[in-house]
Amino acid sequence: MSGARAGAQLALPGLAVDAPVTPAEAPGTEWVWTEDPLEDAVTQEFAHVTVMRNEVRDAVVASPDATGTFVDCTLGGGGHTRALLEKAPGIRVVAFDRDETALEAAKRSLAPFGDRVTFVRSPFGRVAEALAELGISSVAGLCADLGVSSPQLDEASRGMSFRREGPIDMRMDQSSGETALELIERLGDDQLADVIFRYGDERRSRRIARSVKKAFGDNQLVTTLDLRRAVVRAVGPARVGGVDPATRTFQALRIAVNEELDELEALLAALPKILDDGAVAAILSFHSHEDRLVKHAFVKKSFAPLTKKPAMASEEECNENPRARSAKLRAARFVAGAEEEEDYP
Ligand SMILES: C[S@@+](CC[C@H](N)C(=O)[O-])C[C@H]1O[C@@H](n2cnc3c(N)ncnc32)[C@H](O)[C@@H]1O
Repeated sequence: MSGARAGAQLALPGLAVDAPVTPAEAPGTEWVWTEDPLEDAVTQEFAHVTVMRNEVRDAVVASPDATGTFVDCTLGGGGHTRALLEKAPGIRVVAFDRDETALEAAKRSLAPFGDRVTFVRSPFGRVAEALAELGISSVAGLCADLGVSSPQLDEASRGMSFRREGPIDMRMDQSSGETALELIERLGDDQLADVIFRYGDERRSRRIARSVKKAFGDNQLVTTLDLRRAVVRAVGPARVGGVDPATRTFQALRIAVNEELDELEALLAALPKILDDGAVAAILSFHSHEDRLVKHAFVKKSFAPLTKKPAMASEEECNENPRARSAKLRAARFVAGAEEEEDYP
């Protein structure tokens, strides 16, 4: 998209902005510039709109008089950490992220809170070990806002977006681990199809996997737009008003590259080891795989769920921030002692 006007993107008239095709795929069609609501997120330093900010804050920190140490597993733009710190001046927050860019930006924006925030670069699956390294044996509450931030999704160089041309990377921590392209190279057709089916709920996974592997074999898989084209070749172009055909494949690869479900399982297994009796854990998830894991963890005897059903963002919030539409918030209070009857590792 070089040469694009700031704040705008190329779109076919009448086609949802979420479902772009490139000019090469639709030659002879008239193209127009449309305002791109995500552009600001790219140009500003770290623009992520916090989802269910007050709901998460109030579940985790019950009162402005609260004291003690709390954990934010997914610092990102620092929105939830800031909300916790502002609500209760007597608390501290240990904030985790595995993305160096997010940590650096949040260190600057949260500087006014001084040593009330401790920044930890680590996957949250290691939360128990990381807290132990800090000399913290238990915490008074915890939140996690799963998945990726807007800057991670929107920056072309992260390779998570099928709308922006970039390397097929998709790692949240770009300093370690396998990129999505390396994963595609390593997996056989069937294994790749399994990943796309399992993490993307994509029923056309076999066709897509074959097409992606063929593009790789033909040296035609270099950028995210190449990957999208390989998916489109397998399943056809986007329908007007429909989601982009590459959405599920990109989600699946991102989940696999970042081992997102393994991380969540490790976090959930660690909760009984790190939460004080009565501490609340609040977890925001964005797809059914995540929500299922959280739901199962919170029906154990050692948790008293705060609500039977997950809380959702208000209509007003969803209108202002479409990302909030798929958010599900589950919160539960830890009941110490009950876990002894259960089978925790
Ligand atoms: C949705 S954003 C969080 C946004 C934040 N709550 C806010 O309001 O600004 C998720 C963040 O969590 C980080 N993240 C996701 N999975 C992680 C994991 N397993 N370990 C550590 N950080 C993770 C991502 O790098 C990203 O910065």
